[in-house]
Amino acid sequence: MGARAEALEPRQARGPGCAAALPPCGRGRSGPPSHPPPTRSWPVTLPARSFPSRFPRRNMAGNREEAPDYGRGVVIMDDWPGYDLSLFTYPQHYYGDLEYVLIPHGIIVDRIERLAKDIMKDIGYCDIMVLCVLKGGYKFCADLVEHLKNISRNSDRFVSMKVDFIRLKSYRNDQSMDEMQIIGGEDLSTLAGKNVLIVEDVVGTGRTMKALLSSIEKYKPNMIKVASLLVKRTPRSDGFRPDYAGFEIPNLFVVGYALDYNEYFRDLNHICVINEHGKEKYRV
Ligand code: IMP
Ligand code: MG
Repeated sequence: MGARAEALEPRQARGPGCAAALPPCGRGRSGPPSHPPPTRSWPVTLPARSFPSRFPRRNMAGNREEAPDYGRGVVIMDDWPGYDLSLFTYPQHYYGDLEYVLIPHGIIVDRIERLAKDIMKDIGYCDIMVLCVLKGGYKFCADLVEHLKNISRNSDRFVSMKVDFIRLKSYRNDQSMDEMQIIGGEDLSTLAGKNVLIVEDVVGTGRTMKALLSSIEKYKPNMIKVASLLVKRTPRSDGFRPDYAGFEIPNLFVVGYALDYNEYFRDLNHICVINEHGKEKYRV
């Protein structure tokens, strides 16, 4: 059986949901939102009737004991063995450097499609500034924006998006450094009054995201939401939870889908666990 996820602090509300804060953008909004805005207390406990018996309480390790908390995203338990690398294709130059596939590329993309739907339900009808946290967030951001565009085109929900990029650096080898460096991106003052959707690859300790949020909050955006593809269960977590989480993963250093180890492995489609040989080979 997998270890239970650690208890997580209530999430901080970061500004009003824009559906409440902004007038409808020209197309009137009728009735209450079909999905509650993610400003409620955390973790969310859904009533038992939300889980009809035909959906077994199953996660990626087959553990049926815990009730699912969909706010955590797809929960990958500590005893999830992953997929054998030989079942998938991946670049030859990484042969011998990886332990296993944690999340295949297809599942990543399918999950992002659903995140886009959730985001549209919560903050559709808004002008959004998507702030992609480089470099690790670029694949997630590109796929998320693509899905948001598709929903905008094909439904009565729409979102007008601008995309900006910021670059942060907080890791050397597989260790989080004390200092978070902002080493790129536009002047954050341009975010004043905007509805900002931060798109991040991984929340680990949460320190990077907290530091970024406090830098942005100084400029008084109208709303800030955070979407993170991955959230790690780590004892070093400061309790930060994103508004939208793709997958909750064990405390492992992962690479692929733009996540790197000293700039390597960004060109790997699947999210994989690096092995000791790989860590040694690309150590700086
Ligand atoms: P935190 O400050 O510990 O939350 O770290 C967040 C940042 O560290 C993320 O934006 C990532 O860029 C990087 N990071 C954390 N864990 C991993 C990992 O397993 N693989 C690659 N990068 C990671
Ligand atoms: Mg990152």
